[in-house]
Amino acid sequence: MATEHDEYMGSLKAQLAKLFEVSLKVTVPNELDVEPLVAACNGKFGDYQCNNAMGLWSKIKGKGAPFRGPPAVGEAIKNNLPSSEMIESCSVAGPGFVNVVLSKNWMAKSIQKMLIEGIDMWAPLPPVKTAVVDFSSPNIAKEMHVGHLRSTIIGDTLARMLEFSKVKVLRRNHVGDWGTQFGMLIEFLFEKFPNFEDATETAIGDLQAFYKASKQRFDADPAFKERAQQAVVRLQGGEDKYRRAWARICQISRTEFHKVYQRLGVHLEEKGESFYNPYIPGVIEALNKQGLVEESQGARVIFIEGINIPLIVVKSDGGFNYASTDLAALWYRLNEEKAEWIIYVTDVGQQQHFDMFFKAAKRAGWLPQGDSSYPKASHVGFGLVLGEDGKRFRTRNTEVVRLVDLLDEAKVRSKAALIERGKGEEWTEEEIESTAEAVSYGAVKYADLKNNRLTNYTFNFDQMLNDKGNTAVYLLYAHARICSIIRRSGKDIEELKNKGTLVLGHKDERDLGLHLLQFAEVGTMTRFAPCFLTRARFYRVYQNFQVVEEACTNLLPNVLCDYLYNLSEIFSKFYSNPECKVIGSDMETSRLLLCEATAVVMRKCFDLLGIAPIYKI
Ligand code: ARG
Repeated sequence: MATEHDEYMGSLKAQLAKLFEVSLKVTVPNELDVEPLVAACNGKFGDYQCNNAMGLWSKIKGKGAPFRGPPAVGEAIKNNLPSSEMIESCSVAGPGFVNVVLSKNWMAKSIQKMLIEGIDMWAPLPPVKTAVVDFSSPNIAKEMHVGHLRSTIIGDTLARMLEFSKVKVLRRNHVGDWGTQFGMLIEFLFEKFPNFEDATETAIGDLQAFYKASKQRFDADPAFKERAQQAVVRLQGGEDKYRRAWARICQISRTEFHKVYQRLGVHLEEKGESFYNPYIPGVIEALNKQGLVEESQGARVIFIEGINIPLIVVKSDGGFNYASTDLAALWYRLNEEKAEWIIYVTDVGQQQHFDMFFKAAKRAGWLPQGDSSYPKASHVGFGLVLGEDGKRFRTRNTEVVRLVDLLDEAKVRSKAALIERGKGEEWTEEEIESTAEAVSYGAVKYADLKNNRLTNYTFNFDQMLNDKGNTAVYLLYAHARICSIIRRSGKDIEELKNKGTLVLGHKDERDLGLHLLQFAEVGTMTRFAPCFLTRARFYRVYQNFQVVEEACTNLLPNVLCDYLYNLSEIFSKFYSNPECKVIGSDMETSRLLLCEATAVVMRKCFDLLGIAPIYKI
């Protein structure tokens, strides 16, 4: 028999649900498949509650069950609960809620177990083995703009959360490396650099400017335009010189993109649009055989119920488009890569495109009709990045904000803040550099992730780099301070993990302990969900969330950010309470372990958010 220690620990809610399941079977043996309804509660009567009594009563009343109303059902559920180390006490309140107070000893032991065994044991497991996260995906020779930055940041975090949940993630950069624009780019390259293969990146310079200039040429000169159109045909026909020119242009762009990824520590595997090109004809033909493809105004289209414009899969000139490529890519991901969950991260502006081609895939039977079964395709949309003027984010002189410049600026500012704190004298140049990088890139990421991703967000350096409030700077500094408490104690924390004992004596310690244990909450969304999503004010609200799983299955990194911020607030309440003095108190060992557990969970959150921790400040 598997013991509790063999398997992954499960969240508090999942563990309690197991106990209530046993009780429900005994309490109402004739009712089959009663799902235990367990939710965190407000802390006044308990930590969790079981809400089955009321619903059960309406099912069993009049059927000769030995109860007189829901409170009696609640009472029976309580009495039939198997004894467990986990529970300190139980009570029935109101119309039949069964409230559970968790045992402090058990909580303390669980936290210590986490310290010894590591936090990976806590990952909840979604029902998929392989997922594709299609993110970043800029277009060759075009700007990689702040929208792509958002996609990169959000996509990386979603991939990290899935990976933490033991899902194999294929991190796909679906770069726009195919299409008619290459005709004009190639012709322009030939014109400017007859020996294009020797042309260095610096010679070609800014690819965006190159794009603009070639576009101007294309619009102004019909002969050029004609050649450009020919070039597309020759490229698609696989003519060597054209393929090489195309490859050269892609390579230059790739080098630029790579600089951003390297800075952000984001790993991606490129499978651009061109990769799927050979699969398109077969895929369209298969859809055609199923009778899904129809003729409309010279184009080949798929009609989608409820939407009056059809999805064009072959243009009237016979060429393929964005949608044909996406259909082929989806086919490939489902059939060749065996992905069960395919997640696309782009701005909400592309929602209709995704909506339409997902529906087409459902019509073709590639995906099940309902949205809750797998394989599943999800579009993770996000809002615009705005400048402080409330308009699309742009700089004063150039139209688009170069991402590398933006990261540079954040770093310069972080460095200045460190110098202002006097670190110039204390730290080596290297320490300042690496801390400034961790803080600034972390700040850019966090400012983006903490928002509900669907809303637009205003890019503001002063705000994101503030060391107070809900910012990465505040959180990273808070983590560094916890590390410094442990260092100052002069104790070997590794040794304490095994030899010391963690206890949760004080209320503030217990609150912190509970929040730590709720990191991996598994369960379902509860009645608090809507209020949480609009404004997360009270940390209790989060107790109703399975943090990692919630953030992961609903693809909302902000849930994780809120958890982290609250953890830091609850820690500060504990740490600033004179009754909870750490160093030099009788409870030093236990409290140091609690500090360490907080630091460990914070680091796990940073890790999932793609933020590098700092250890001193
Ligand atoms: N290249 C596209 C853009 O910049 C994003 C691609 C998203 N992925 C996809 N499979 N359509 O807007």
